Amino acid sequence: MAKPKVLVTRRVPQECLDLLKPHFEIEHYNKQTAIPRKLLLKSVKDKDGLLCLLTDKIDSELLAAAPRLKAVSTFSVGYDHIDVPACKARGVCVTNTPGVLTESTADFTWALLMAAARRVVEGDACMRGGKYKGWDPLMLLGTDVFGKTLGVIGFGRIGQAVAKRAAGFSMRVLYYDTRRAAPALESALNAKFVPLDDLLRESDYVSVHTVLDAGTRHLLDDRAFSLMKKSAYLINAARGPIVDEGALVRALKSDKIRGAGLDVYEREPKMAPGLASCKNAVLAPHLASATLETRMRMGVMAASGLIDGLVCKARSPYSVDA
Ligand code: DGY
Repeated sequence: MAKPKVLVTRRVPQECLDLLKPHFEIEHYNKQTAIPRKLLLKSVKDKDGLLCLLTDKIDSELLAAAPRLKAVSTFSVGYDHIDVPACKARGVCVTNTPGVLTESTADFTWALLMAAARRVVEGDACMRGGKYKGWDPLMLLGTDVFGKTLGVIGFGRIGQAVAKRAAGFSMRVLYYDTRRAAPALESALNAKFVPLDDLLRESDYVSVHTVLDAGTRHLLDDRAFSLMKKSAYLINAARGPIVDEGALVRALKSDKIRGAGLDVYEREPKMAPGLASCKNAVLAPHLASATLETRMRMGVMAASGLIDGLVCKARSPYSVDA
C-alpha cells in the first residue's frame, strides 16, 4: 500500500525526520526560512499530512487547496496560526507540542528578565566597544530582582514554571488569568490571584504567558503601560500581538516603564519602528524554546502527532482540543 504523503515545511531536527521516514512519503522544504505561501498552497495539493511551523498560516484557503489533508501537526505549542474550527469542520486533526518546552521557555523568560534588569547586553557592548575604563560606582546601574514583585499574566504551564523560579529570588508573585488556579497550586507556588489592573500597578516585572486570541490581542496597550510603575519591566516570551508594540515603544522612550525583555514581536520577523533603538529593551529572535534538547523533543512530538493521525488513525494525546 502506498505510504501517506506529508509535507514538512522547514528544516527540523533529524530525530523528527527519522521518525517520519518509515511511515510517509516526505516532501521537505528543507530551508531556514518560511516556505513561500504560493509554494505551500501548491505543495499541499496531494498531501495527507502537514508538519508545519508557527510561520505557516493554516486557514480555509489552505484547507481548500488540500483536499486530501487529514492531519496537521505544528512544531510549536502555540497554534494561533491555525484555524482550528475550520480544520475540525473539515475533519482535519490538529496536534501541537505541549509540555516539552515549558521549562526551557521559563528559563529563557528569566534570562530576558535578568538581562533587562541588570543591563547585561549594554555591558557586553561596553566591553566589546572598548569603552570600559575601570570600575565605577555609577556605571550601568540596573534594578534589583530579589525581593521584588513578579506579575505573571497567563497562569498555564509556562506561567507557573516562571512563577516557580521566583522563589529562588525571594519574590512576591502575583498572577492574572481568566480562571483562578486551584488553592493548592496557588500555595505551592506562593502566588496570589489579582485583577489585571492590580497586577500591572503592583508588579516590578510583568511577564506575559497567555495564549494569543481575540481576548488577549493588545492586552498590553497604552493604558496598561500607564498603569505600570515607572520602574517596571515588561517581559514577553509568549506572542507578539499580545503587546501593542507601538505603545510599548512609546512607553520605553518616554520612561513610562524602565525596560523590556522581548522574544516575540507583533509582526515577526519585523519590529515596530523605533524599537531597535530602545537601549532599555533586550531583544531576542524568538529563542525561548531554542535548546538542542527541547527542539529535539518538539520534533519527536510533532512527528508523533502525524503518525497518530495518519498511521494509527487514533486520537492523538497531542490534539489541540483533547
Ligand atoms: C511555540 O512553541 O509556540 C513557541 O513560540 C516556539 O517554541
